Amino acid sequence: METVFDLQQLREKVRQWRREGLTIALVPTMGNLHAGHISLLERAREIADRTVVSIFVNPIQFGRGEDYERYPSTLEADSEKLSAAGLHLLFAPNLGQLYPGGMEDDTRVTVPQLSNILCGAFRPGHFSGVATVVTKLFINVAPDKALFGEKDYQQLLVIRRLTADLCFPIEIIGMPIIREADGLAMSSRNGYLSEEERSRAPLINQSLRSAAEALKAGGAITDIEREHTDKLAAAGFRPEYFSIRRLDDLALPGPADKRFAILVAAWLGSARLIDNIHVDLGG
Ligand code: PAF
Repeated sequence: METVFDLQQLREKVRQWRREGLTIALVPTMGNLHAGHISLLERAREIADRTVVSIFVNPIQFGRGEDYERYPSTLEADSEKLSAAGLHLLFAPNLGQLYPGGMEDDTRVTVPQLSNILCGAFRPGHFSGVATVVTKLFINVAPDKALFGEKDYQQLLVIRRLTADLCFPIEIIGMPIIREADGLAMSSRNGYLSEEERSRAPLINQSLRSAAEALKAGGAITDIEREHTDKLAAAGFRPEYFSIRRLDDLALPGPADKRFAILVAAWLGSARLIDNIHVDLGG
């Protein structure tokens, strides 16, 4: 595995692969890698000749008071995992590489349609931060395919939309959520949980599965949302939303809709946990 730290080296490597007629897959990450990230890399290796993983904790997608300062930085351990998993190229830029003009009044990419609901309503500017950094990566890696986890389902849809709107010739691939044995979705932020909180955290996924059953049984959407929000709150979570949406665009469902995403964001202690599942009533 080769590691590059600046855009110039990255572009040279990618140009060389292109000259050789090789296809490229990109897996953008913020590091602190777990089995979910490695599953993206493994899939990337199956579908492209060369894989690039980026590790960059992107400041502009964190709001004031969020966890940017304490977001775990584990480059050495991450490099070992990526090398063992057969990665070709690790791109680990510093701030100056991706924000050469600083982060005040710099150019931003926004995806208005999806960015102000659900997570976007609680994290203003978050999706613009994600869209901006992903655009920079897309331009400089110019991959054929890019892979993202479905745990951040809203992010995945934002990236699909920006790819379509900005005419990037990149196939966006969403990959299934990888879970711990007790159902908790793997996340770098799970490390913020105390032992006691960790033992309660699987309730997030249990509540989604219970809501899915209620939806299949014909329950009313608003009742299911309220009941599961209340249950999480009673168990000591601080829910931001528990919401049943249309799968394809996260709009509020209408009577004709059959495919849904059930999405939740809730705080437990100092960890903000998100998860989602999909329900198809189409038979
Ligand atoms: O999902 C993440 O880890 C980040 O939001 C991403 C896509 C790497 C952009 O910083």
